[in-house]
Amino acid sequence: MHSTAYPQAPASDQNPIAEFRAASKHYGEVVAADAISLSIMPGEFLSFLGPSGCGKTTALRMLAGFEAPTSGEMLLDGVRVNDLPPHKRPVNMVFQHYALFPHMNVADNISYGLRQQRPKPAAAFVAQKVAETLERVRLPGFDTRRIWEMSGGQQQRVALARALINQPKILLLDEPMAALDRKLRREMQIELQSLQRALGITFVLVTHDQEEALSMSDRICIMRAGRIVQIGAPRDLYDAPNSRYVADFVGKSNFFEGTLSSVSGLMGAVDLPTGPGRGRLGQDVAVGRKVSLSVRPEQIYLSPTGGAFAVQVRNRIFLGEHTEYLVNNPSLGDFLVLVSRQTEATLGAFDPGQDAFADWTPEAALILNND
Ligand SMILES: Nc1ncnc2c1ncn2[C@@H]1O[C@H](COP(=O)(O)OP(=O)(O)OP(=O)(O)O)[C@@H](O)[C@H]1O
Ligand SMILES: [Mg+2]
Repeated sequence: MHSTAYPQAPASDQNPIAEFRAASKHYGEVVAADAISLSIMPGEFLSFLGPSGCGKTTALRMLAGFEAPTSGEMLLDGVRVNDLPPHKRPVNMVFQHYALFPHMNVADNISYGLRQQRPKPAAAFVAQKVAETLERVRLPGFDTRRIWEMSGGQQQRVALARALINQPKILLLDEPMAALDRKLRREMQIELQSLQRALGITFVLVTHDQEEALSMSDRICIMRAGRIVQIGAPRDLYDAPNSRYVADFVGKSNFFEGTLSSVSGLMGAVDLPTGPGRGRLGQDVAVGRKVSLSVRPEQIYLSPTGGAFAVQVRNRIFLGEHTEYLVNNPSLGDFLVLVSRQTEATLGAFDPGQDAFADWTPEAALILNND
């Protein structure tokens, strides 16, 4: 998805633009961030992804300077900034609930920060900056518009412009699209991506929407209870999740539970209720332990004539390019199978109640600890 017209993904020989070094944030008993270590590279699009309350906003606030870590270090351009206030950092944040000033027009909202500077910048300079920034977020000529006269998507752009006008090196976006409907959200995602490539600014996005993180990011940090549990490119996280938690959170997966009976090289065998099932080892696992065989729905074949697992089709959901089937095997229980339009064209569709067979290759199955 990277266009060659824009800077490519960051090279590894660069110095990080920002670093978390075992950064923790405690609120009394609550551990909101638990020893986060992470290097953010210049020009990258990085996302924090995780469920509500896992510490995403806290991580962003430490980066912006709204919170000092309880322990550990925060660095910007290699310099420790633990106690440096937000306005002294080359970082701007679009807040989770982007609070625009309702009594001010668009131009005054966007230029608010600029106008607080001392010495006060000249009015012509401010007007010029506002015009440039509105152009950038595709709201040219909206200067005098009132906030309540704008759609949700337009307000979102104003919030973005308010952060961009300061020309930050790092732009922090906390669930910036949460208030938008699905179609508008998709449009804004594409725009944000092209804006990021065009400006070459480092973007750090917080989201609990895995599709959003997968489609936009160079790298994703998966968070759980204040910790980063895996960092990687979208495809790596999808294909090689290092835990059942990540496999479950990124994309859809079926989990078949059993005991790990043997290990051989990179492969292992799990005693499933239906017999042994082979798979790739997804993390450190021990023979004799309870594990899961994780199989993505699109990796499972459904056939009317043959396969390892006899199933009955329970439900069919038409999804356009794909059809999602919920099938049941008496020993394995219910699981999901995704059948492409192309496959259906040759094999035919399956009806609810119909008997069929499911199967998958050992390479498509990942062995993960039950956690
Ligand atoms: N000021 C605070 N005082 C006490 N606890 C807090 C404070 N801010 C956050 N927390 C707690 O820290 C944890 C992490 O909160 P945080 O806001 O970072 O989560 P989040 O991942 O952004 O969640 P969401 O997706 O709901 O926005 C939560 O348990 C939250 O209740
Ligand atoms: Mg939050």
